[in-house]
Amino acid sequence: MKKVIIINGPNLNMLGAREPRVYGDLNLEKIIDYTEQQIKKNSTVQIQWYQSNIEGEIVEKIQTLVTSDIDALIINPAGYSHTSVAILDALKMLKIPVIEVHLTNVYARESFRQTLLTAQAASIIMSGLGKDAYYLALLALLNKED
Ligand code: DQA
Repeated sequence: MKKVIIINGPNLNMLGAREPRVYGDLNLEKIIDYTEQQIKKNSTVQIQWYQSNIEGEIVEKIQTLVTSDIDALIINPAGYSHTSVAILDALKMLKIPVIEVHLTNVYARESFRQTLLTAQAASIIMSGLGKDAYYLALLALLNKED
């Protein structure tokens, strides 16, 4: 595993300011730094980070992975997880492993969060790990490779 892309969907750029009691105090930049520090201890994997609030931009980013040299995708589609057939269809095109992560345990929240359309295209789902979500998803990918 050499290169992994981590895609974050809408409102995750507002972590830290956004409902801190639900999502914690760390902003996305701090979670990125934390993930990079942690993964460095275990691996030399290169991470490309991408965030967008726009469904079509996320679809287009996923489409680029059909022909790129990226080895795996970790995605938190955020609110689009529950609604986006377009993101699901894009994910279904991929031949690389896909892990869907959620910072919170979506099954312990409102009932509309318990439908995960996009997760149908993932081989692994991780939900409720907070700031460790991305780091542990990377470890899961590396572990799966062994
Ligand atoms: C989320 C859960 C979603 O229901 C919500 O819309 C988000 C974040 C999570 O990481 O827990 O924006 O994906």
